[in-house]
Amino acid sequence: MTAGGLRRRLLLSFLGVCGLLCLYILCVSLQFRVPWRMVQARLPLPGYARESHPQPSSSSDSRILAWDTPHPGAPGGQEEQTPGARHGPPTPPPSKLRLKPTRAPTPKPPPPTPKRPTEPPYIGDRYAREEFWRAQTNCSAGIRRKVAGTDFGARFLADIPVLQWRGHISAAEYERLRRYPGAHGWGGVDFDTLVSCLSILNTSSRVMFDDWGRRSNGSTCVRCAVVGNGGILNGSRKGREIDQHDYVFRVNGAVVQGFEEDVGSRTSFYTFSTNTMRNSMRSYASAGYHGPPVSEETRYIFLPDHDRDYILLRAAATHTPIERGPERSKDPPKYFGEHATADTFKIYHPDFVRYLRNRFLRSSTLRTRYRDIYRPSTGAVMLLAALHTCDQVSAYGFMTPDYKKYSDHYYDKKYRGVGFFANHDLRMEMSLWQQLHRAGLIRLYMRE
Ligand SMILES: *[C@@H]1O[C@H](CO)[C@@H](O)[C@H](O)[C@H]1NC(C)=O
Ligand SMILES: *[C@@H]1O[C@H](CO)[C@@H](O)[C@H](O)[C@H]1NC(C)=O
Ligand SMILES: *[C@@H]1O[C@H](CO)[C@@H](O)[C@H](O)[C@H]1NC(C)=O
Ligand SMILES: *[C@@H]1O[C@H](CO)[C@@H](O)[C@H](O)[C@H]1NC(C)=O
Repeated sequence: MTAGGLRRRLLLSFLGVCGLLCLYILCVSLQFRVPWRMVQARLPLPGYARESHPQPSSSSDSRILAWDTPHPGAPGGQEEQTPGARHGPPTPPPSKLRLKPTRAPTPKPPPPTPKRPTEPPYIGDRYAREEFWRAQTNCSAGIRRKVAGTDFGARFLADIPVLQWRGHISAAEYERLRRYPGAHGWGGVDFDTLVSCLSILNTSSRVMFDDWGRRSNGSTCVRCAVVGNGGILNGSRKGREIDQHDYVFRVNGAVVQGFEEDVGSRTSFYTFSTNTMRNSMRSYASAGYHGPPVSEETRYIFLPDHDRDYILLRAAATHTPIERGPERSKDPPKYFGEHATADTFKIYHPDFVRYLRNRFLRSSTLRTRYRDIYRPSTGAVMLLAALHTCDQVSAYGFMTPDYKKYSDHYYDKKYRGVGFFANHDLRMEMSLWQQLHRAGLIRLYMRE
């Protein structure tokens, strides 16, 4: 072979190797766009204070991976706290995470002109507004006065309806809200079911503090204790402090009897969905949970994510049997005591739940196939409803960064870690509680 021929072959193989290298670099850089697109999805809506958005970016993948493990191991937890490159140019994720996206199916080529993410129609960031909400108290040191001066000011709607009632029924509202399924709208609930439930809800169901006039005793500020079920309350001795608030909120499997010293004894508001209540009765019976707390002051707030909730509310308030669905019965439901009337019940407005999801807990889960089952946890809806109605909020028993030190619930018989599933984003919620605490909008019990 001549020297010239050899040189040509060498040149050809060199070019071949270069080509392969270029192809490899191109592939790798395309894969880096995957996490970056997730980062963009987490950015607040245009016009919101960007700094205030809860989550660092680098954790998206660890979050997704964590769903398949019932208990969160080390992966993910730590990355949550390191501030990521949220708003700057895309930074490659830390090397530990870098390889994860490569396991995903081959990424599609990026859209021709990368633009800011547009809102998909399921988001629906427009809500009913209700002037009425502004008026229930006039507290000069209240949350609604303070919020404007915080990072939350831009996304907080002081006049969003928190609760729905007969005044919200109309064909036009039905058309608007039936587009959103689950807890986020009236999708899947037929109009007659809706009307037969909401039409019994009068003005006392419309406001959170329907008995404030009798109770206020000259005070202009409503002070609320919002009690989650976290293991951090075990041995806390916070019961007396909790009971001293004007109102005490509880949720789901809240067992009170036997735990009064740590969690208090009063329940002014009990938040649940029919589904979560039934699950709690199954899962926590051995811990002493046999149904919602019953007392003279107790009001029940449904978080409707199914027509079951509208059906159960109506039957419970009118003491009539449940005609259909999984709760069907010959007798009226007896979960809420003999003396329950329509005034004993309230039900969250789907606009409020959708607003919480969109503006406070817009998890990256919405970019996955779990989108339709994702919603803020029942405890999160309760705490954020208190934030939108009370003047002062003390939160107890909510997840804190040292959650691994505590059992899942304060009433657990022996230690079990917090479980993470795709339908809620508990880490994002935990981070939101920290931010609200730092902003001075809630006082979060952290057991220093
Ligand atoms: C609330 O208080 C302000 C002054 O602090 C007063 O001007 C206003 O009229 C009050 N509003 C109500 C509804 O009491
Ligand atoms: C709701 O208000 C209407 C009119 O004030 C009244 O007739 C009706 O009995 C009330 N319903 C309930 C369940 O209290
Ligand atoms: C109402 O306020 C007065 C004066 O502050 C106080 O003495 C009394 O105990 C309060 N009543 C109730 C029921 O809290
Ligand atoms: C609750 O606290 C007690 C006393 O610190 C401890 O012995 C117990 O293990 C705790 N319960 C759980 C479920 O962690």
